Amino acid sequence: MAAKSKILVLGGTGYIGKFIVKASAEAGNPTFALVRESTVSHPEKSKLIESFKSSGVTILYGDLSDHESLVKAIKQVDVVISTLGGQQIDDQVKLIAAIKEAGNIKRFLPSEFGLDVERHNAVEPVTSFLEKKVKIRRAIEAEGIPYTYICSNAFAGYFLPTLGQQNVTAPPRDKVVILGDGNVKAIYVKEEDIGTYTIKAVDDPRTLNKILYVRPPANILTFNELVSLWENKIKNTLEKVYIPEDQLLKYIQESPFPANLMLALAHSMHVKGDCTNYEIDPSLGVEASNLYPEVKYTTVDNYLNAFV
Ligand SMILES: NC(=O)c1ccc[n+]([C@@H]2O[C@H](COP(=O)([O-])OP(=O)(O)OC[C@H]3O[C@@H](n4cnc5c(N)ncnc54)[C@H](OP(=O)(O)O)[C@@H]3O)[C@@H](O)[C@H]2O)c1
Repeated sequence: MAAKSKILVLGGTGYIGKFIVKASAEAGNPTFALVRESTVSHPEKSKLIESFKSSGVTILYGDLSDHESLVKAIKQVDVVISTLGGQQIDDQVKLIAAIKEAGNIKRFLPSEFGLDVERHNAVEPVTSFLEKKVKIRRAIEAEGIPYTYICSNAFAGYFLPTLGQQNVTAPPRDKVVILGDGNVKAIYVKEEDIGTYTIKAVDDPRTLNKILYVRPPANILTFNELVSLWENKIKNTLEKVYIPEDQLLKYIQESPFPANLMLALAHSMHVKGDCTNYEIDPSLGVEASNLYPEVKYTTVDNYLNAFV
């Protein structure tokens, strides 16, 4: 069997990055995390970095704005995964330049981990945000760097613990606000599963220069189905408040950043159906649960049990 690829993660101390680092180490890939030196003194992140080290992860110090540190780190690995945050999307051009100079990378996964940035009906400010990711796709392709784009749909942990309700810390037990008519299908994926699918993709020829869509069948649900699943668990019927699209669009326009971004993402997902409103074009993409049926992903049904 071919040796497992050496994987470098940039953004490993971030929200989704930590799951990618852990999945890589657990899968037995030699794993490297590029970390800023200043982050080591951060109370929470220092614990995370220690946990990486105890899982056998090699910590490399560097910064996206320090070209030499990038090239040095990249030369030690085969695959680069970026889980850099929303503020760093544009700056990934620096990473692309370093990958190009190093010349040894057989796969690059830029920071995507959401909707397909080229297939959506989002409104501002989401449109401009996704456009930045599109520009990064074009830059990668222009440099001829082999890639996989991960469209993981919604992070379960962002949405399910509150059923997308504002200013609460638990799923609702009396009243629920539903955007649109609640009949549009969205997709929720547990972060650990995003990590598992992502790492499976890095050495897979079927995902080379393709989009990997993560669409676990049991996790494709309308909002109304989700609410009904929850109502069955708590044995209670919730009062439902539906927000029509025109009202939601008005809220988006009137809200300051970042509330407008969160509302516009919810509009894209729950009103426009941007996770599910197209078939995967096999010339562009593949679906993760089809490619890796051996992965026992966490279903939404199971996920919600923790909150009953
Ligand atoms: N599908 C969804 O539901 C969903 C939800 C949220 C985000 N996303 C997407 O997921 C991706 C990752 O977002 P996230 O929220 O997980 O990111 P995040 O938590 O903001 O983490 C950003 C990471 O980038 C690192 N970083 C920042 N500046 C850096 C620099 N100059 N040099 C090196 N590293 C630097 C940070 O390091 P420090 O620890 O040192 O700060 C951190 O590890 C984004 O593309 C985002 O759009 C998707």
